Amino acid sequence: ISRSFSRHLSGSKPPSFGIAFDIDGVLLRGNTPIGGSSEALKRLYDHSGTLKIPYIFLTNGGGICESKRALELSKLFGVKILPLQVVQGHSPFQQLVNRFEYRFVVAVGKGEPAAVMSAYGFKNVLSIDDYAFCFDDIDPLASQKKWVVDKTSDDRDSFEDQARRDYVKSNKVEAAFIVSDSVDWSRDIQILCDILRTGGLPGSEIKLVQQPPLYFAHDDLEYKAAFSTERFGMGAFRIALQSIFNSIHPNPLQYTSVGKPNRSAFKNAETVLGHLYDQRISEHKFADISPFKTLYMIGDNPSVDISGAQQAGYPWFSILTRTGVFKGKGNDSKFPADMVVDTVEDAVEYILKKEG
Ligand code: G3P
Ligand code: MG
Repeated sequence: ISRSFSRHLSGSKPPSFGIAFDIDGVLLRGNTPIGGSSEALKRLYDHSGTLKIPYIFLTNGGGICESKRALELSKLFGVKILPLQVVQGHSPFQQLVNRFEYRFVVAVGKGEPAAVMSAYGFKNVLSIDDYAFCFDDIDPLASQKKWVVDKTSDDRDSFEDQARRDYVKSNKVEAAFIVSDSVDWSRDIQILCDILRTGGLPGSEIKLVQQPPLYFAHDDLEYKAAFSTERFGMGAFRIALQSIFNSIHPNPLQYTSVGKPNRSAFKNAETVLGHLYDQRISEHKFADISPFKTLYMIGDNPSVDISGAQQAGYPWFSILTRTGVFKGKGNDSKFPADMVVDTVEDAVEYILKKEG
């Protein structure tokens, strides 16, 4: 794999630095490029459109496969982006395939959460939309929800078969994965509580059983979308679920969140950037050694992007922009970045000047 990465890098002398870009609040607001992001990214390619500087997108967002996201981003920014340059909040779920490969799991969130998990290798995964459809009356508000009543997708049609629905209902859900932001909090919290407190069999008797594992792609309380002020993220959904679960269940909710600011997210980013940098990494088994003197994390959220880069330590250098969650004049007081700039374009200008 690493061979093909290196083919996309131009120049004989590889650079000793790499860049990880946050997406929401740095490169995009909703679907609109901000802060001169297209121009900034174009500076990382040579005149023939070949990648000059190793860079990745390190976002907590997601809901679609990395390959589809790469195509979307390529269109938005007008540069050629490889699927392996896209590291999303849920990308670390790939590492759980061995444990859950054939187990029945439910995937929650906007976009195509089950398709994302299938692409990672999970063989027995159902989206919470399709799962909910198997249970009559599981959501007492369903008839009020226009988008549920009107839904006539192929996915849904495939579940018309009563035998299949019965099969799904009688199979224990062995884990739940929150892949991306929940679209329907009331339904998802209800069904997740049903799954978690019955040991994976909604509608069955509630008894004290082992809670099935619950994974979140990240724990962002708020993030910057198209609206003028921050919007609730997956961390807010987690608090709502946890608060309700802990009110109805004797044992507190157990969960794991991956994504930024976890150290592992930055370690993984380092590995991916390393592959982009030099094919020697796999050939000479230097996989644990970072070839970089500096890795720049450009983010907008001090408690996620900056705190994560700081915890990750060498060789990370954090740059905070003022286009997203952070708006202050100086630096953030709780998680001060190594450098604060107005926009991502300023950040890239600073890096390219510094690296000569
Ligand atoms: O839902 C996405 C959001 O929480 C953060 O995205 O790109 O700022 O890490 P990003
Ligand atoms: Mg962000």
